[in-house]
Parts: sequence; structure tokens; C-alpha cells
Amino acid sequence: MPTSIITVRRVSELRALVAGWRRADETIGLVPTMGALHDGHLALIRQAQADCRRCIATLFVNPTQFGANEDLAAYPRDEAADRTKLAALGVDALFAPTVDEMYAPDASTTVIVAGLTEHLCGPFRPGHFAGVATVVAKLLLQSLPDAAYFGEKDFQQLQVIRRLARDLDIPVRIVGVPTVRDADGLALSSRNAYLSADERKAASTLPRTLSSIAERLARSPSDVAAQIDWGRAQLAAAGFGKIDYVEVCDVETLQPVNEVSGPARVFGAAWLGRTRLIDNAPVQR
Ligand code: PAF
Repeated sequence: MPTSIITVRRVSELRALVAGWRRADETIGLVPTMGALHDGHLALIRQAQADCRRCIATLFVNPTQFGANEDLAAYPRDEAADRTKLAALGVDALFAPTVDEMYAPDASTTVIVAGLTEHLCGPFRPGHFAGVATVVAKLLLQSLPDAAYFGEKDFQQLQVIRRLARDLDIPVRIVGVPTVRDADGLALSSRNAYLSADERKAASTLPRTLSSIAERLARSPSDVAAQIDWGRAQLAAAGFGKIDYVEVCDVETLQPVNEVSGPARVFGAAWLGRTRLIDNAPVQR
């Protein structure tokens, strides 16, 4: 089992590495992460390795996607542990740039994906998707892989990234990978580490509620408003404090729907203590 991994910190080194693989006609998969790797990330890596000859993981806790009152300073960071996991999986390289390498002091370009960011997390995290879209556009352009891999847990993020790659003609296939869950259904997330034991027990109410709504809407597609009310009540009863949203949206436009008439997902975001959890469930019709 490999115990070390090539780690590059400069964009020029990343480009040189990729150029060598391209000369050998090798395909490349990119897995962008902010570290604190868990089995959800490992699923992205396995998919990248199944599809591509080479796999690059990135580790960058991107400051521009955190709001002023969010958890940038507290975000879990353990590069050595992440490197060990990536090496054990046989990932070919880790790109772990510094903030200075990623952003010039007078950086003045931001990628804004309109429309898709109007609802769901958009209004609750002003600037978040601009930060994500900008850093992902940069990572894609720095490495120009064949494909890049993102989890469906952050479904709005995935759609934003698909749209920016299309709109900016970035020639990279964006691949969504199904959410990896704990035995009780809670989606794996680096932020689950913040939950107390009691909060962790309550947390599985979020995926359970969203899946129940999805199942009910598959049977009664026009029942959206009543199901949202029911879902909010379930979360409140389980101990969730602030409920940012429970919404049913079209999967392409991410606009809320009052009735399910095409591909749709149920989305939820709510707080347990100081931890914000998000999840979503497809309506199978
Ligand atoms: O999902 C994440 O971990 C981050 O938002 C991403 C895509 C790595 C961009 O910083």
C-alpha cells in the first residue's frame, strides 16, 4: 500500500505534472476538496480512478466561500492525515496550494452563476456560490482534467459547477457522485464532526424527513406545500433550531415548484446548535 503521495503547491508544478501525463496519453480525473476527508470524498476518488488513468485530489480551504460569520477559522484541517488517506487509495497527486498561490492580492475577477443561486442556500450564504464558482473555475483551468468529481449532497453546488463549466466553455466533464451516508442515513460531511452526541442522534431526522417527503410527492405530486409544512414540523420536533429551508425544486433550474411535474428534488437546510446541515432527496416518478 503506497504511504506517500506527490504533493504540489504551485500551479506551475501542477501544470508540469499534468503535461507529462498528457504526453503519455493518460486521462486525468480531478477531485476538489477542502480536506477533512471522509468516505464521501473517497467515493469521489474511487469514481475518478475508475474513469481515468490518473487521479489528482486538491486540498484548499477556500476563504472566499465562507461568510464573515462562518466557520473558516474552525474548519477541520489535518493535511498529514488527508495525505495518508490519499496515498493509501493510490491517488497520483495532491495539489495543496496556499491562499497566496490561489489569489493575487489584487484579484478582482469573480465567477457569478445567476439564477441557480437565487434559492436554497443562496440567500442564506451570500457570496458563497461566487466563492465556490470562482475557485472551482480556477482549479479546472489550472489542471484541465478530463473530468472533475463532486458529491450530490451539495446538489446546488454541483449544478452551479455544471453551469459554469458549460457557460465558460471549460472542456471538463462534471460528474456527480451519489451521497455517501452513515448507517442511520446522515450524509457524510466534514461538518458532522461539530455535532454533540445528542445532536448527532437528532441529525438523521433531516435525511429521513426529506426522503419521506420525496416518497409522498411521488404518490401525490401536488401536495408540495403541505409536505413542506410537515417536514418543517418534523425537524423542529427533533430539535433542529433554525430551519433555513425545506423546498422542492426543479433539478435543472433549482427554482421551487408547487407541484412535481418533472425531475425534482426535495432540499433541506437546518441547524442543530451551531452546525448547519444540508441534504436532498430525489423524487422518483
Ligand atoms: O465541496 C467542497 O468541498 C468545496 O465547496 C469545493 C468544491 C472543494 C470548492 O472549494
